[in-house]
Amino acid sequence: MPDNPNPGQQLPETTALEVRHLTKFFGRRPREALERLTQGAGRDEVASLGTAAVIDADFDVRRGEIFVVMGLSGSGKSTLIRMLNGLVEPTDGTVTVMGEQITDVAPKRLRAVRRRRVSMVFQHFALLPHRTVRENAAYGLEIQGVPLAERRARADRILDRVGLGGWGDKMPAELSGGMQQRVGLARALASDTDILLMDEAFSALDPLIRREMQEQLVELQQELGKTIVFITHDLNEAMFLGDRIAVMRDGRIVQLGTAEEILTDPADDYVAQFVQDVDRARVLTAGNVMEAPRAVVTASAGPRAALRSMRDLQTSMVFVVGNGRRLLGVAHDRDVLRLVQRGERDLAGVISDDHPVVGVDEHLSELFGSAVESQLPLAVVDDQGRLLGAVPRVTLLAALGNVPTDTAEQAIIATPATIPVDVITATLHRTAAAEAAAADATPAPAAGERSPA
Ligand SMILES: Nc1ncnc2c1ncn2[C@@H]1O[C@H](COP(=O)(O)OP(=O)(O)OP(=O)(O)O)[C@@H](O)[C@H]1O
Ligand SMILES: [Mg+2]
Repeated sequence: MPDNPNPGQQLPETTALEVRHLTKFFGRRPREALERLTQGAGRDEVASLGTAAVIDADFDVRRGEIFVVMGLSGSGKSTLIRMLNGLVEPTDGTVTVMGEQITDVAPKRLRAVRRRRVSMVFQHFALLPHRTVRENAAYGLEIQGVPLAERRARADRILDRVGLGGWGDKMPAELSGGMQQRVGLARALASDTDILLMDEAFSALDPLIRREMQEQLVELQQELGKTIVFITHDLNEAMFLGDRIAVMRDGRIVQLGTAEEILTDPADDYVAQFVQDVDRARVLTAGNVMEAPRAVVTASAGPRAALRSMRDLQTSMVFVVGNGRRLLGVAHDRDVLRLVQRGERDLAGVISDDHPVVGVDEHLSELFGSAVESQLPLAVVDDQGRLLGAVPRVTLLAALGNVPTDTAEQAIIATPATIPVDVITATLHRTAAAEAAAADATPAPAAGERSPA
């Protein structure tokens, strides 16, 4: 990544955190260690001097994203996140928080940025045992100097949001672990900072509660638009939460990408091994695996255009779309051929809606039912019902099983043709003349017999 050509200039509006060449070395002779690390040495090679906890981390976190840092124990995750709010001072490199550099600044300035911009949720709740739930939730506001009445009101609002309405007067010890972690989250949210740092925040929770917290975090993030840096060593958690994921190994970030990129194109054997056990069906969405829907016609183009398109693409079906590419259904070659033979000009009568349609954000785990019920490729639509792509059954199975598609049967976007090309071409020819002649005659053929195709 290129260096910022204008250090000290304002960051783009979209950047929450800018991390440049960040290194933390614990031990003797940090300069010497740093020099060797800069020349490409690994953690092992400087081990005689100390521990290179984080080596040359360089990335941006965008505003409003959930950025996950993942890696085995000892890979440097906690050290990294603690440098993001100045709890650990880097050996080298810079951190810029919402446009303000926090490295190499006076402690007072650092505290001010931290108070306003960043709050942290820890693994072990870190609640104040002798204060009520409400006082704990309001703690960050107290530090910020918010008056009592206002901080009580804000704490209660946030407690409501995290599902703890009515618990404000209890003491932390009266709450279950999951509830205590909600208080920790409420405390971080109540401060209303732009950025939340969460270090293994859900790791101490049992699986069901954990899942619930993950879902709630995503919801809150969408509602409040916070930027979240989330550390975990649980890959499924990382994949579920992360807009992007940084994978750390021995102090270095070895891959940075979306869950899909990491799953489908791991940077090295370490990452590949890491992602081996991921539940792909819960991570990948229809949008991740869909392909361009090749056979598409607009309803207004009529039966002849639809038939021509199916012939040219050698397929037995087309997706039919209306205005704005809104999906109306599919049309099959035999039905369309019959319309053409009868000289009809409207596709509407043969558009069927009995094929599977799925939302672009639906996880593959939710697509199984549809895929089993129908031979047709799954149509993928957005929330306005617009056709975005198609998922052939083969692609779906390949994505799940991690089977390379090139050894399986070809991933077909549309079902193969069932009517020979020359039959279609002949029909189009034969009917073209008749159609021209009858251009303004009322097309009212009696409901025809099934024509042999
Ligand atoms: N204050 C310290 N002094 C010396 N070494 C440290 C210090 N903090 C961390 N380390 C070392 O730096 C390395 C990275 O530690 P860190 O806590 O960042 O890892 P982690 O990825 O968060 O691990 P975990 O998943 O176990 O929490 C480890 O080898 C650790 O022993
Ligand atoms: Mg840690």
